Amino acid sequence: MNRLTTSNVVPRIAESASLSGKKVLEVGCGKGFRTAELLRYCSSLVAIDPDKGAIAWATTGKWPETVAFQVGSITDPMFPKASFDVVIFTLSLHHIPEAHMGLAIHNAVSVLKPEGKIVFLEPGSEGSLLEAELLFGAGDGDERTQRNFAYEVMTTHPRLSFRKEFYEEERFRYPNIRLFREHLTPKLGGIEEWLRFLVKHNLELTAKRRVDIFGVK
Ligand SMILES: C[S@@+](CC[C@H](N)C(=O)[O-])C[C@H]1O[C@@H](n2cnc3c(N)ncnc32)[C@H](O)[C@@H]1O
Repeated sequence: MNRLTTSNVVPRIAESASLSGKKVLEVGCGKGFRTAELLRYCSSLVAIDPDKGAIAWATTGKWPETVAFQVGSITDPMFPKASFDVVIFTLSLHHIPEAHMGLAIHNAVSVLKPEGKIVFLEPGSEGSLLEAELLFGAGDGDERTQRNFAYEVMTTHPRLSFRKEFYEEERFRYPNIRLFREHLTPKLGGIEEWLRFLVKHNLELTAKRRVDIFGVK
């Protein structure tokens, strides 16, 4: 991912969803940190995000020809039917408005080839990063309602058939308060409280991640 983060989540997705040699669509790529890691495992990748600033940032980097970034939302039809072997939502389903989550999954199913897979990487409900989100309004703050709703939508969607679920931990190293502030933009508390919190956690925060893999009906 980036220099602050260590995680085994993408290698495990690659193995469990058999990414090798596959055409992949990443939904909600943001600035492309996870895109770079996913690209090591598949044959080509299209990465979409409606955030123009994030895509502009991502495309300033040097990328191989096997990746394409596009500004766009999974709630709009963007690709022909049967374009991809695997669609991966990377921490993005819970960011889609509740009323549109089902449509997002419907569109993801439409662009999949027969026998394709849909993967949802979502935040889990444990870890000191979640504590920082709740205590300091860090990151996107308290998203527990949207996360639970996203899980309900994916596990009850009529076009998805459940294959596999697993958990992995991500670790975020913050050697100083400047990086903590830049990365997590805390909205509550102050430097002393943030520092106490970071020291208590040995300058490293953890986040449980849940991965769900589905086939399509
Ligand atoms: C928490 S960020 C995840 C960034 C990155 N994928 C990662 O794993 O760290 C969630 C991303 O989902 C994107 N997103 C929100 N609604 C979306 C939609 N309708 N279609 C695609 N992406 C969307 C947001 O713009 C944001 O970049």
